[in-house]
Amino acid sequence: MRLAALALLCVAAVSFSFESATAADAARPRLAPTLSPDARAELALKEMSPKEKRSLVFGYFGSPKPDASYRPPQAARMGSAGYVPGVPRLGIPPQWETDAGLGVATQGASTDAYRERTALPSGLATAATWDPQLAERGGAMIAAEARASGFNVLLGPGADLVREPRGGRSFEYAGEDPLLAGTIAGAAIRGIQSQHVVAVLKHFALNDQETGRTLLSADIDRGQARESDLLAFELAVEQGDPGAVMCAYNRINGVYACESRWLLEAVLKRDWGFAGYVMSDWGAVHSTEIAALAGLDQESAAVFDHEPYFGAPLEEAIAAGKLPQARVDDMARRILRAMFAVGVVEHPIDDAPAPIDFAADERTAEADEAQGIVLLKNAGGVLPLARDTSRLLVVGGHADRGVLSGGGSSTVYPAGGNAVPDAGPQGWPGPEVYLPSSPLAALMGQSPQSRIRYLSGNDVGEAVRQAKWADRVIVFATQWAAESQDVSLTLTGNQNALIAAVAAANAHTVVVLETGGPVLMPWLSQVAAVLETWYPGSGGGEAIAGVLFGAVDPSGHLPVTFPESLQQLPHVSLPGTGRPAGQAFQVEYRAGAAVGYKWYDRHGLKPLFPFGYGLSYTRFDYGALRARVENRRLVVSFEVKNVGQRAGAAVPQVYVGPKAGGWEAPKRLAGWSKVPLAPAASARESVTVDPRLLSTFDQGSQSWRIAPGSYEIRLGESAAAADVRLSAEVRLPAWRHGARWTERWRLPGRQPPSPRDPPSAVSAARLSPNRPGA
Ligand code: BGC
Repeated sequence: MRLAALALLCVAAVSFSFESATAADAARPRLAPTLSPDARAELALKEMSPKEKRSLVFGYFGSPKPDASYRPPQAARMGSAGYVPGVPRLGIPPQWETDAGLGVATQGASTDAYRERTALPSGLATAATWDPQLAERGGAMIAAEARASGFNVLLGPGADLVREPRGGRSFEYAGEDPLLAGTIAGAAIRGIQSQHVVAVLKHFALNDQETGRTLLSADIDRGQARESDLLAFELAVEQGDPGAVMCAYNRINGVYACESRWLLEAVLKRDWGFAGYVMSDWGAVHSTEIAALAGLDQESAAVFDHEPYFGAPLEEAIAAGKLPQARVDDMARRILRAMFAVGVVEHPIDDAPAPIDFAADERTAEADEAQGIVLLKNAGGVLPLARDTSRLLVVGGHADRGVLSGGGSSTVYPAGGNAVPDAGPQGWPGPEVYLPSSPLAALMGQSPQSRIRYLSGNDVGEAVRQAKWADRVIVFATQWAAESQDVSLTLTGNQNALIAAVAAANAHTVVVLETGGPVLMPWLSQVAAVLETWYPGSGGGEAIAGVLFGAVDPSGHLPVTFPESLQQLPHVSLPGTGRPAGQAFQVEYRAGAAVGYKWYDRHGLKPLFPFGYGLSYTRFDYGALRARVENRRLVVSFEVKNVGQRAGAAVPQVYVGPKAGGWEAPKRLAGWSKVPLAPAASARESVTVDPRLLSTFDQGSQSWRIAPGSYEIRLGESAAAADVRLSAEVRLPAWRHGARWTERWRLPGRQPPSPRDPPSAVSAARLSPNRPGA
């Protein structure tokens, strides 16, 4: 019934917008959907006054400031991240912006009107599915909720590589590998924009830790950045074609990301042909003409910056001849183009909130989580739990009430409210939100005949006593991570002690982790099984119970390496820790392009759990590995067969490395498949390798180059040598391609941008800590 009502509403909305577009065609050719987004943007621009153009590049915060020093414009959606006025006389709607990549968030501590929406599992969970279709579906779901809530710009997804496992925002991102992260983020963008909502790819770039995020300079060789962090963004831009990219808080080699002409003009707009607009992060602008000439197109929520740089100072800069009007035209043109390209103009947002089918959206989130849960250990086949388990003890993690989510601007307030309202800090970056999807209730649902007891875990002695009563014990352990602060890899409070004590009392102890990213596991050898469930999202309790009881086969694989100890990390202690407040510092990117597993490989380190790792309740065999060069592309094919008793999904991964060395690390992920297989079923899979993954980026000639010679192809179930199932060798010819990679232009309907000279500018770095958590 609810669904039917929704469907009707959609049809009505579509036919209305179609009518309005066609009827107005003659009078308002900029609205004619038959014209290209570029042509329409150009037409609209021609009709705009200089003031109207400037209004498009200046953003407002969408929430009141808690100290009452600022109130957003009336037309903003209250409690939102941002608002940019439209040009009503030309049919250009405002940009209503909301966070973020995991669902519709509410901003502003003073607001008492939280929007209650559906939360996807964390970005790492979606990356752990290794399934771009799930990422796309999730993107479409949250964007549909954004649209129903009055928004046409969604501030996500994030594609920063997880270089630093303590990073407080790792949970929002898609892992440590550029191919995996770029593919997942690209798919999420396609999903978001399928709903005529502009996706904003962020935080561009190298915003890899929260400690001192507005003060630090990420210092890295530019060529190595192209092969790693920037490659993730490049792939996401190519595969998703986002309307906008958000430049980050930090500096890169001394220059603010939002003032870096190299990053914004040369790499993003020139080399990658990005036709959308660059918006700043909230409080990341430090100048007017320097930023504008470097490629920043829109100042977001200017109240967070020291000055309204793209407001009155922009007008003054034009009048003083410091900034050509042509550049301001380009800024406005890019914004308009994105709005036309994504369909924001001909699919206007209703002012009244539209109904949301929460039950259906929760199923989308749950399906994502079910595929993203990673089984890390399963000694003696303790999992899946038998449905006739008679005595089950569940301990800790508020598992009786819900599942944890991450903090900061991406926090989604769930339908039904916070299940543990008193947990953690109530102010920024809190509150600590538990989504009301109780694993305990879901476990009871999976096995109604079992006697299931729950303990909070606060009393370790009591937990030990009850563990002796139980046939099986499940300990839930949580680690809250949040924007603007980094996180320890050691579980907080008594959780490590609790797990060790319970495991000593019951050999059938299963640990379920709800964490932002990797954690250390001093108790690993004592417990029977470990599941990493990340932040499980709406419906996460059900997904966890489904995997524990085997209703779903675990098929998640790690998108990040889990270190054995801090000593294995490029920085044993987090850079910037203990510095006087406000003091700038540099983070030397020692790993260069060797992020995550590549660092471990390069140094012969054995992590706790390798990148790509994940067990299943079934087993897979591999055969017939072939590698050949076809149409100048490396194509790797192989067979995979389910040789166990249960249905499951394999994630065979193809790693490649030059026999002669010369890369940042011995091997790189070059492709993968996610293959669902019934028992005894098999499939032949084929992976075509992107030449950039076989190249190094040569700074001198600004080109990608494959060195001719022998390359080893390894097919494995993780990045670890022990998980390699088959290997082969292939000879690759020399290959070279300029930084202006043309793949994107081969996609249907895409045109290469006309070459133009970026305006000249001198980038200067100034320091101004002005965001919480600097
Ligand atoms: C975050 C962004 C977010 C913005 C708006 C910033 O603090 O870094 O990711 O989109 O706020 O809330």
